[in-house]
Amino acid sequence: MRHIVEIEKLDHQGRGISKINGKVIFIPNAYIGETVEVEVIKETKKYMEGKVTKYIKTSNNRINYNCPYYHQCGGCNIAHINYEKQLEFKKNTVIDIFKRYANIDINPNICESEDKFHYRNKVVFHIENNKMGFYKDETNLLVPIDSCLLLNQKLNDVIETLTKKLDISELKEILLRTNGEEVLVKITSVNKLLNTNMVFKDKEDKSGEKATRYLKENSIVFNLGDYKYAVTSDSFFQVNTKQAIRLYDKVREYVGFEKLETALDLYCGTGTIAIYISDLCNRVIGVEVNKSSITCANYNKFLNKIDNVEFIEGDVSTVINNKMNPDLIVVDPPRSGLDDKTISIIKEIKPEKIIYVSCNPMTLARDIKKLSEEYEFNDIELFDMFPNTYHVECVCLLNLR
Ligand SMILES: C[S@@+](CC[C@H](N)C(=O)[O-])C[C@H]1O[C@@H](n2cnc3c(N)ncnc32)[C@H](O)[C@@H]1O
Repeated sequence: MRHIVEIEKLDHQGRGISKINGKVIFIPNAYIGETVEVEVIKETKKYMEGKVTKYIKTSNNRINYNCPYYHQCGGCNIAHINYEKQLEFKKNTVIDIFKRYANIDINPNICESEDKFHYRNKVVFHIENNKMGFYKDETNLLVPIDSCLLLNQKLNDVIETLTKKLDISELKEILLRTNGEEVLVKITSVNKLLNTNMVFKDKEDKSGEKATRYLKENSIVFNLGDYKYAVTSDSFFQVNTKQAIRLYDKVREYVGFEKLETALDLYCGTGTIAIYISDLCNRVIGVEVNKSSITCANYNKFLNKIDNVEFIEGDVSTVINNKMNPDLIVVDPPRSGLDDKTISIIKEIKPEKIIYVSCNPMTLARDIKKLSEEYEFNDIELFDMFPNTYHVECVCLLNLR
């Protein structure tokens, strides 16, 4: 059964929202003001999901996105909207979430991405039945792909080379990461013993002379502002390198330029933020659970000739305690946000400032609410790390009341 509907607004994932007989329907690839013919593909007690079968009236803000896999591979979801409206959508989403979940009115600035395409420095391909691709959104259905408009061109070139040269029949996954010159490749085989890392380097890596053999062979070095970061295939690193610099510059601005005694960088990954703010503090302590990231972080200290930063490997909630006395805590947790134990220890530690970096505005707003008796919300800036997708990165400043 098909219906004709008008799109009233967008949900937080950029899907068009309308109603059929009073029941809400979510429709991907449909924008505000458009009239579409839609087929209902899922129905629950509370809502429906639909698929556009015909555009009857399209919006002036719609653009052509020439990707043959659009809305199949689960990567891009708002690429049919012009960039200005993409930014407006992200800003409105965060405004709405902050009002709903933290009861805070905000009007944040959003820092646009210089690159709207080819900005991703990392990709993971899944392999099945001799085909390489991405999984369809929230499923394990493989969508075979040859190249991707979001990937750094270097990665698209390597895909072409790999698919020509490699027998992928025994492989499960290929991870690629690039700093623009070199490409780090991690191959995971169906037979675990064949798993391997390799680095395609255009030029000799002179910076790694004193590095451990492991890092020499398994990492590539990214330059962010004045700092260098060695990153392995299995450690976290922001996927949009140019935007990462802007985000970390904002963190520096929130730290302030009066030298702090001690700062904690929780969920520190490869030590990116700890090192980036190390000249603004007498001492920085980074905490991270991933062993490979901690190996990188310690090496990155050496790479940047920094000796006022130390890294602790472990779960944040068990490493930090109320005997620590930092002026500042920076947190950059995964999408799930801060767990209750960590929040309660932070409240006991009572740093003057918290800088919260988040890739999920929903858990960010939730955690700010949980901290709100002790901490006053001061400022927020948004960063478009992921053009053409609904994702947005936020940096928030909270001050002790
Ligand atoms: C969003 S990343 C941030 C990394 C880093 N701040 C950066 O900008 O590159 C989150 C990091 O938290 C780490 N992590 C996740 N849960 C953790 C936990 N309970 N304790 C410590 N680290 C954790 C992950 O391994 C990951 O490196």
